[in-house]
Parts: sequence; structure tokens; C-alpha cells
Amino acid sequence: MSPERELIAVIGTGYVGLVTAAGFAELGSEVWCVDIDAAKVARLRRGEVPIYEPGLEELLAKHSERLHFSTELGDALEHARLLFVAVGTPPTYSGDADLSAVHAVVDAITASEGHALVMKSTVPCGTGAAIRRVFGEQGKGGLSYVSCPEFLKEGSAVRDFLHPDRVVVGDAGDWAGDAVVELYRPLLAETGMRAGGECLPASVETGMRAGGECLPASVEGEYLPASAAANGGGGGGALVRTDVASAEMVKLASNAFLATKISFINEIANVCEETGADVVEVARGMGLDERIGPKFLQAGIGFGGSCFPKDVNALKQLAGNSGYHFQLLTAVIEVNELQKRRVIGKLQKHLGSLVGRRIALLGLAFKPNTDDMREASSLVLAARLNADGATVSGYDPVAEEEARILLGGLQLADSPLEAVRGADAVVLVTEWPQCTGLDWREVAEAMRGTVVIDGRNALDSDAVRAAGLVYEGIGRG
Ligand code: UGA
Repeated sequence: MSPERELIAVIGTGYVGLVTAAGFAELGSEVWCVDIDAAKVARLRRGEVPIYEPGLEELLAKHSERLHFSTELGDALEHARLLFVAVGTPPTYSGDADLSAVHAVVDAITASEGHALVMKSTVPCGTGAAIRRVFGEQGKGGLSYVSCPEFLKEGSAVRDFLHPDRVVVGDAGDWAGDAVVELYRPLLAETGMRAGGECLPASVETGMRAGGECLPASVEGEYLPASAAANGGGGGGALVRTDVASAEMVKLASNAFLATKISFINEIANVCEETGADVVEVARGMGLDERIGPKFLQAGIGFGGSCFPKDVNALKQLAGNSGYHFQLLTAVIEVNELQKRRVIGKLQKHLGSLVGRRIALLGLAFKPNTDDMREASSLVLAARLNADGATVSGYDPVAEEEARILLGGLQLADSPLEAVRGADAVVLVTEWPQCTGLDWREVAEAMRGTVVIDGRNALDSDAVRAAGLVYEGIGRG
């Protein structure tokens, strides 16, 4: 361990907790990981990684000596000042976030002047203030609190940790916020951002453009201190040091904005279908405007995962609870729900009634490079197809185990070719390379019918058509 690196604790060993632990270990910290799930802790101690996340297993193995796993919060309190909280905050029936796991940690922490809770879990704006109130009521007012929201994407979480666009630290201005900033220092460009939003160039190179806006992270990255690369970092992220409530809102607003961008381009795609335009060309043309940017403009069959659906709804509820009707987010959610079902209409257009038809779903996870099936479009599609009397087969290179549990009525295949055998139509649901790079002549031979619906606009439409198949994407004229 680098002697100057702070020893930390991470509570909750889900994908955020494990990636955070592995990432800080890579930067040189010793990390105590705590989870109430004894079986999971036993697996982690044996070197088994319970989730599929590219690069994570290797990083955990590389730093096994720096990583300790325990079911006892006391171990964390004994060894670390900073307790990163990365427990689940799933949606409740009301759409609000369920904070019971967070409050279990809050209640379990003993009074101390020297410890801080660092909140990584996604929580509603106002949670930090509420927790500080509870600390006061419980006679634990000496505990510090920092909001440090997570922006990792599943499937590229390790890379995202080591190359953050920004690190957001919301705190009351005491030692704990400074300590969290120090932990992230190797991943930061020498540019910070003050509350109020102005850029603070630490040196001429990291400076501002004429007009005053911050340089994009990619530019700042060129000026990353050499020590960062040596530490496995190299991200060059901007630091946003702010108050707790604003940090909490940055997280929710970021996810809500990205989800809005996706629902927006999906609606544009739907209009493209009526007007003969191609949404891929439209998105390319739009994305070149620096104010819009090219990312998250991929039209498809809707967003899923454990974050966007939950967080958009949680922000809508949060606003509603304080008397504000967040109309835009209501539309974002509804557009997404309808988008997941649009494929059914496309299939009916080509096949007529779906009764007795065989439909193959290629890719089942909510996106590639993960085994996560939460809110995946495949769940909605398979259920709708079954309800309409179709037989559904499916393939996923990684999410098979989850799919077996969640998609009882689906015939799981070991390969894409096996999944499409005898199918009247094939739907690309998740753009895994194993599904996009198929030999379409082989697919055509294996199928009974000819329809290919490209739910992610990720296939080579010419290759599909050249194989004698009928290609239809999302919003492609
Ligand atoms: C998302 C955010 O991108 C992260 O910044 C955030 O930290 C994370 O939620 C979280 O709150 O924990 P994630 O859910 O892992 O990350 O996945 P994304 O890559 O954002 O994709 C979400 C969904 O949107 C997927 O179903 C994907 O297929 C869909 N999507 C994404 C589109 O349909 N179009 C796009 O252009 C981009």
C-alpha cells in the first residue's frame, strides 16, 4: 500500500461497491469491504466475483492483499475513517427510493468524531440533511457526512472509475470532504470547480477557453499529473466541490437528463418512420453540434437497467412530494414504456397475427457487457409476445442464468444460431458483438421466415438484406 493513501471502507458489495473498492485499491488504498450477505462475503474471500463486469475480476485479484471482506461493520470502523456507502436503494411501490439499507448503516454506526459516511448510493435530494439530523438525534453529531455520487456505467464501470468525467464531492466543508478529494486526487485534472460553477484553472494549461467555459474532460486529461498514470488512473476528471444537496441533485439530474435524451431521440425515430427520414443520420447531424453532443442519441427499444428507470421515477416522485409536477419526466417514462412495446407492432405489420409464430430475441441483458436483466426490454417483449400467442426463443452470452430465472416462458439457446432456428422473425434486443456480427446467410438458412427487426440499429442492414432477409430498424425511414 502507498503509505500516503487513506485506508477506507466500502459498505455494500454490489457493482458500485465492488468497483469502488477495486478502483481505490488500484490507486493504492487498503479497503475494508463490508456486506451483510455472509455467503457473498465468503465467495469474495475465495476470490469469486458475484457479478459480471469487465476488468473487475482481474482488478480484485491483482489487489487481493489490499482488499478485506467482512460482515462486521465494526471491522470497517476500526480500520477506516471514511465509510463509503454503496448499498442498494431500489424503488418502492410508490416510486420513491427505498432507503432502508442506508438507514440500517446509519443506525449501526457508533458515535465518533473521527468517522464520515460517504454516500455513493443514489439517494433522493435531502437525504444527507435527514441523515445528519438523525445523527444529531442519536447523539452522534460528531460524525461527518459527504455526498459523493457515482456515475459508473455497467459494462464499463472499471474504466469509468479510473477515467471519470467529473468527481462530485458535496460536504459541509470539514475534514471529510477534503479527505475524499485527496483520495480521488490521482484521477483529477488540476482544475476544480467552485460552488457557483466557475472554473478554477490551477495552471495555465488547464485554463479556460475564451468565453470562460470549462475545457472538456478529454482536453483536461492531457494535463493529468504523471503520478495519476503511475497509479493506474489517468482520468483527468473535473472536481465539483459543492454542498450536499447540490451533489445529490447532480446525480439525479444527470441520469434524468440522459434518459430524456434517449426518449427524445426515440420519439424523433418514431417521427422519422412516418416521414421517411433515417434517425441514424439525424442523430449524426445533431450530435455534431457541440451543445448537443453525439452520445446517448442512439434510438432503440428503450432504456433499461437498475438506474435510469428507477432514478427518473424517483426524481419525479421527489418533485411530486414537494408539490411540483415534473411533467417532462412523466413523458420520458411513458415514451420509454411505449418504445419497448413498439417492436410488437412492427412484427404484426410483417407477420399479421403472432399466434403460433416463433420469435427469436438476440440479447437479453439490458445492454451489452453485463448480466444485469433489471428493467431489460427483453422482459417486456417476451411477456407481450407470449401473451399474443407466440413462442419465444432467446440467446444471451452472459445473462443466461438471470434469464432462466426471470423469463420462464422463453426457450434459452446456447448460441444465436440455435435461437433463430425455425424462427419467423428475429429481434436484436441487445447489441452484443456475438449477435451483431452474425453470418446473415447462415441465419437466413436457419430461419423459417425472413423478418429481422434491429431493435438497436446496430446491424449491417446491407448484409442482412443481401442474405435475402427483410430488415427493419428503429426510425430508419
Ligand atoms: C447509467 C448512467 O449512464 C451512469 O452514468 C450512472 O452512474 C448509472 O446509470 C447509475 O446511476 O448507476 P447504466 O444504467 O449502467 O448507467 O447504463 P447506460 O449505459 O447509461 O445505459 C442505460 C440504458 O440506456 C441501456 O438500456 C441502454 O441500452 C440505453 N441507451 C443508452 C439507449 O437506448 N440509447 C443510448 O443512446 C444510450
